Amino acid sequence: MTAFNMPDMDSEQFVLWQALLEKRTGLWLPESRKAFLIAALSRHMRDKEISDYNELYTKLASGAVSVLDWASLVDSLTVHETCFYRETPSLKVVTSYCRNRALEKFQSAPDKPQHFQIWSVGCSTGEEAYTLAIEMDKLNLGLKEACGKTVYFGVAGVDISYPSLAVAREGIYAARQLDFVPQVTKNVYFNRLADEHYQIKDNIRQRTCFIQSNILELNSKLKQEYDVIYCQNVLIYFKQDRKQKVVEQLATRLKPGGLLVLGHGEVTHFENHELTRVDNKHCLAYLRKDNT
Ligand SMILES: C[S@@+](CC[C@H](N)C(=O)[O-])C[C@H]1O[C@@H](n2cnc3c(N)ncnc32)[C@H](O)[C@@H]1O
Repeated sequence: MTAFNMPDMDSEQFVLWQALLEKRTGLWLPESRKAFLIAALSRHMRDKEISDYNELYTKLASGAVSVLDWASLVDSLTVHETCFYRETPSLKVVTSYCRNRALEKFQSAPDKPQHFQIWSVGCSTGEEAYTLAIEMDKLNLGLKEACGKTVYFGVAGVDISYPSLAVAREGIYAARQLDFVPQVTKNVYFNRLADEHYQIKDNIRQRTCFIQSNILELNSKLKQEYDVIYCQNVLIYFKQDRKQKVVEQLATRLKPGGLLVLGHGEVTHFENHELTRVDNKHCLAYLRKDNT
């Protein structure tokens, strides 16, 4: 037993757990995270009155536990750290792309309403999706001023974690979570609640939706195509070959001419003949060819 009365886990057991998590979620736990895995499994085992890792492993691997149990275990093993306005260079690429694309479309099809669908991949508790929606709303104010027109936009936040999505849907955050939100933006887009909490205003909430899904299962789900796919700080926890596969899948969900924005270090040596790298040294972004 370890110091906290957790059963020891031998290396054979650790390798089995490592492989199971990687296969089902993409999460790759290095040996250095073994104590973290043990702590999460032990909490789960205590709740379920299971006394050893093999018994829990067999139940999970054979599907003998409920989907919710598996989800809660995955939730305790994944990193959900996030904040508003987290990756400013990546955000700038999105807003500048949407602005240019909107102006092009207004010119080529003046009478056609223009729509932008944005996907926040691994949206955690919603800050990223709301930041994107706020920036799109600001973009609309600029477009209205410049040419009297606006675009319709929607932001879909997708995550594997049910508890994170519940927070996202509520859109309520403690004051300290808004540290990176400019004061003017806070005034315009948030309602101040009691106890130093803020809620995203309805006009922005109405532009966002939150969906539970596993990005390893994109083949079978989320058939929609997007103008912008925004994936930051998600694939860094995946193995290189898995990252490549997920990015390939994400690329298939881009509309022609669409933009894929990845965090630095999300993927290295990625090439796809349908995509062209955007020339920007602060962020990793690709445009899908537009053959339409
Ligand atoms: C570190 S957070 C990043 C949040 C946000 N993108 C950001 O950059 O601030 C990573 C999120 O990816 C989610 N995630 C991890 N594996 C996933 C998977 N296989 N499918 C969907 N979401 C996943 C986690 O639940 C977590 O909320």
